[in-house]
Amino acid sequence: MSSDSAITAETAQRPRLRIPAHIGMIMDGNGRWAKARGKLRTEGHIEGVKALRNLVELCINYGVANLTVFSFSSENWTRPRDEIAFIFNLLRRFVASDLQKLIRNNVKVRIIGSRTGLEPSLTRLIDDVEAKTATNTGLTLIVAFNYGGKAEITDATRLIAREVAAGRLNPDDITEATVERALYTHGIPDPDLIIRTSGEQRISNFLLWQAAYSEFVFVDEYWPDFDEASFLRVLETFSLRDRRYGGIEAKTP
Ligand code: IPE
Ligand code: IPE
Ligand code: MG
Repeated sequence: MSSDSAITAETAQRPRLRIPAHIGMIMDGNGRWAKARGKLRTEGHIEGVKALRNLVELCINYGVANLTVFSFSSENWTRPRDEIAFIFNLLRRFVASDLQKLIRNNVKVRIIGSRTGLEPSLTRLIDDVEAKTATNTGLTLIVAFNYGGKAEITDATRLIAREVAAGRLNPDDITEATVERALYTHGIPDPDLIIRTSGEQRISNFLLWQAAYSEFVFVDEYWPDFDEASFLRVLETFSLRDRRYGGIEAKTP
C-alpha cells in the first residue's frame, strides 16, 4: 500500500466532526484523581477547576454554543462539611478570578439549581455574574450548582400548580412546552451530548428531563485529566452516532 492510500484510508475512517450545539458534562473523579497521587481530595477539586477552564476554551474554539457543567449536586450535601465549604469557596474564587476573562470572551453565564439553602452572599454573587454577562452572545456556560434533576422537576411542578391555583392556567392546557418553560433551563436547547468522566456510567440526577434524547459518552479518565485529546475522542464518538428520536431514519447529531 502506498503511503498516499494509507493516509486516505485513515482519513476515510475518521468521521467528519459534528459539533454538538449543547454539551452536558458530569465532571467526576476529582477525589480519585487526588487519591491516586497521594494528595487530598481538595487538591483534586483545584485541578478540576483548571480542567473546567480548559473545557470552556475548547468549547469556544470548536464553536459549541452551550455547555452545562455539573459542579455540585443536591446530593453532594451528604459530603463532609469541610469538603462542601471548599467546593463553595472554589466557585466564589472561580467567579472572582475568571469573570473578566469570561466577559472578554463573550461568554454568557447562567447558574442553574436551587437557591434554597445558599448563603445570601453566594446568591448575590450568582445574580451578579449572570447580570454582568447577560448581554454576551458567545458560548452560554450553564453551571449546575446545588442542582438536582428531580428537584428541578419538583420546582417546575410547584410553579405550574401555582399558576393553576391562581386561575391563570387551565390544567388541560398543560403541554411539554409548559413544563419546559418552568424548568431552570428554560430557553436553552436540550443537550445533544452528555459526557461523564471517571468511568462511572450513571446520570446521578443530572438534567433528567433534558437528557431524553441526549447521546451519552462515558470516558475513563478522571475529570482533572480531561484534555483536548479526550474532547476530540468524544466528539469523534458522538459524530458516529445515529440519532433516530424514535423514528427509523438516522438524523444527524
Ligand atoms: C467530582 O469529583 C466533583 C464533585 C462531585 C463536586 P468527586 O468529588 O465526585 O470525585 P470522586 O468521584 O470522589 O473521585
Ligand atoms: C455527580 O458526581 C455530581 C457532580 C459531578 C457534581 P457524584 O460523584 O456526586 O456522583 P455519584 O455519587 O458517584 O453518583
Ligand atoms: Mg464522584
